[in-house]
Amino acid sequence: MVYDLYKFVDRTGTNSIKWEFMKMFDPEVAEGTIPMWVADMDFPCAGPILKALHQRVERRIFGYSTYRTAEYFRAVCGWYQHRFNWYVNSADIVYSPGVVPALAYLLDILTKPGEGVIIQRPVYAPFSDVIKSRGRTIVNNALINRSGYYEMDFADLEKKAADPNVKVMLFCSPHNPVGRVWKEGELRRLGQICLRNNLIIISDEIHYDLVRRGTKHIPLVTLFPDRKKRIITATAPSKTFNMAGMHLSNIIIHDAGIRQKWRKYVSGQLRITTPDPLSIVATQAAYYLGEDWLEEVIAYLDANLLFLETFLKKHLPKANYTPLEGTYLAWIDFSAYGYTQDELKKIFREAKVLVEEGTIFGDEGAGFVRINVACPLDILKEALERIVGAITLYSSGKGA
Ligand SMILES: Cc1ncc(COP(=O)(O)O)c(C=O)c1O
Repeated sequence: MVYDLYKFVDRTGTNSIKWEFMKMFDPEVAEGTIPMWVADMDFPCAGPILKALHQRVERRIFGYSTYRTAEYFRAVCGWYQHRFNWYVNSADIVYSPGVVPALAYLLDILTKPGEGVIIQRPVYAPFSDVIKSRGRTIVNNALINRSGYYEMDFADLEKKAADPNVKVMLFCSPHNPVGRVWKEGELRRLGQICLRNNLIIISDEIHYDLVRRGTKHIPLVTLFPDRKKRIITATAPSKTFNMAGMHLSNIIIHDAGIRQKWRKYVSGQLRITTPDPLSIVATQAAYYLGEDWLEEVIAYLDANLLFLETFLKKHLPKANYTPLEGTYLAWIDFSAYGYTQDELKKIFREAKVLVEEGTIFGDEGAGFVRINVACPLDILKEALERIVGAITLYSSGKGA
């Protein structure tokens, strides 16, 4: 191991939302709480990214900058090709300061107020938020929970996709929070249903690199080379390389007409045109030189998740955790303990571990919590011990 992933990096004074601004998420959070909520990692960035940033800082001027260079596209498209055997023409990539903002811009461009957008709950909450904020209609094709392993409900999708008011499928792949990395057969079926019904698919693949060793992520669009104009893929180096505060994501739009609309609206009307110079440099360094770091992080996450699984079986046997195929966000079902949503919240507050409650992702998440395990093992151990302590105390009638 080259990187010190097991060592704690103090983020005091870095404006960290995860550590310093927990109160933004839970105003009642207690001093000394371990934050395991928002999806960023507690691991320092890859050495080559830090080196490239230092070198860029040495240049001393941070004027308006563009990413539209051969070097940038070689880095980004080279990564797609190398990791996923996925050829992307650089002319099809547009810049967005984030994936979530891109989802909002795309809904504005592709749909009219009131039109339907399919999502698969329980799902990353901003999916619902952007649909609502744009005045569009949420159409929920809920996932099916088979004893903790989630599958898509294709019969329901057939019905919902056939509704003429429904225009877009907002797809999460790999899926946050249920941790599925969709298999080829599942992707094909989903694509066929949506494309047959003339929907546009926005495939949010931001977690594409963070899958367990031995698991393969397949970019949806690679399965439909003849229909790629109907599939938009959202990618970013931010989750993969733990630089979510650097606002640069790459949105792949194959249809020249939609790209034209994007340019007119996003660059023209909203004036969102240029990323900051540091994020350009960091992205290039990450994609050219960050792979060794990523492989170490993936191995570390695999080990943390195995620890979590073993620990839960031993100390919280009623908690149902199905091993994640992707992401570092463990989705754990506490419903067998019979707590109300309020009780669950109180227990985690008492434990001083800040997690995301399942209902944030939709009603289907009742009884669940999402725990971010991308931290040094010592912190994960401490958090789990605190949770066991709080549950034991509560069960004895003395806690919360
Ligand atoms: C599925 C998914 N999409 C998008 C994002 C955030 O994207 P961004 O920070 O680029 O807006 C997250 C962050 O957790 C996510 O899980």
